[in-house]
Amino acid sequence: IENGLARTPAMGFNNWNATNCRAEFDEQMVRQIADIFVARGLRDAGYTYVNLDDCWALPNRDGAGNLVPDPVRFPNGIKAVADYVHGRGLKFGIYTSAGTKTCNSLGFPGAIGHEQQDANTFASWGVDYLKYDNCGDHLGQSAQDRYTRMRDALLATGRPILFSICEWGSNAPWDWAQPVGNSWRTTGDIEDNWNSMLAIFKANVGLAVNAQRGGWNDPDMLEVGNGGMTDTEYRSHFSLWAMMNAPLLIGSDLRSDGQSTFDILTNRDVIALNQDGLGVQATEIANADGHHVLTKPLDNGDVAVALFNETGSTATFGTTASAAGLGNATSYQLRDLWSKAVTTSTGAVSASVPAHATVVYRVSRAGTFTPPPAGTTQVSALT
Ligand code: GLA
Repeated sequence: IENGLARTPAMGFNNWNATNCRAEFDEQMVRQIADIFVARGLRDAGYTYVNLDDCWALPNRDGAGNLVPDPVRFPNGIKAVADYVHGRGLKFGIYTSAGTKTCNSLGFPGAIGHEQQDANTFASWGVDYLKYDNCGDHLGQSAQDRYTRMRDALLATGRPILFSICEWGSNAPWDWAQPVGNSWRTTGDIEDNWNSMLAIFKANVGLAVNAQRGGWNDPDMLEVGNGGMTDTEYRSHFSLWAMMNAPLLIGSDLRSDGQSTFDILTNRDVIALNQDGLGVQATEIANADGHHVLTKPLDNGDVAVALFNETGSTATFGTTASAAGLGNATSYQLRDLWSKAVTTSTGAVSASVPAHATVVYRVSRAGTFTPPPAGTTQVSALT
């Protein structure tokens, strides 16, 4: 959607994967997350949005039909929380549904029939991002109609509000949502395990042609740090989501995350692929027996190459600079964005990739290479 937002994929936090509807999701949590964004370098790394998911409201609207924040979770209302987040130099997001109810079984009010009223409420609270889910009764209306109506209601508020469509890929949104939303979920909900992450990657990776600046495929929020995968698997998850230009919404509780989670989430070299100005989602150029090769052109002429090993054993595989779209130069520089090692190559772009790992290279033609920061390891040539 050409609303000036999401020129690169959104980056931020959403509480759902960490807390679901549990009581720990409250004003204090949101404030603490905003504080951690600043204190631990997440804001500086590009994370901007601090978003609430389901369960922030009371089950019933007030007498005037307005949404009412749950006074136990949010005793000072939502605007106070938004103000606090804004005060940290961040943006604030909220959630509702394009039906009569939100998705939690407790049954909070959805926005169908109240689109403009709710959009106005959100704008008055200082909301910058709306995740719009698909639960409750749709009253016989198509997804396209329901999501378009909320797009128009948000635009009519005059406040820039990023519009995140969440209908789980049920109505092939990649075919119609480009003028409607800033992103659209392409699958059902992610779970914090390898099989879920892998299945969602496979469902989303083929949709590159449908993404562009202002409108992105959304393979769901990150599980990095939630404990159900190894750090190797979380590095793969983060690498693949970055390559696929997915919104990067942190889904773990940053208050209890260990350093290794922060290290993954703040890998600026990998983030830079996601946030690259060319805005091209990676394409899978090969997948032989679970040895996936993804390439992504970058705005300075470099190409990112991800070598993802889905299998349970180490394997050496790759591609060539030529196949990755870098022409036929005599020499290339390969920067490994996780190890930070730099190698030179006459054209091979390959690696020994451990089980479930992903090696991500930024590949430059020799002569266009920007030296890495001081202290980076230089290692011997790769043939
Ligand atoms: C749906 C969405 C999830 C989350 C929950 C909240 O399942 O897909 O991301 O928002 O609803 O109830």
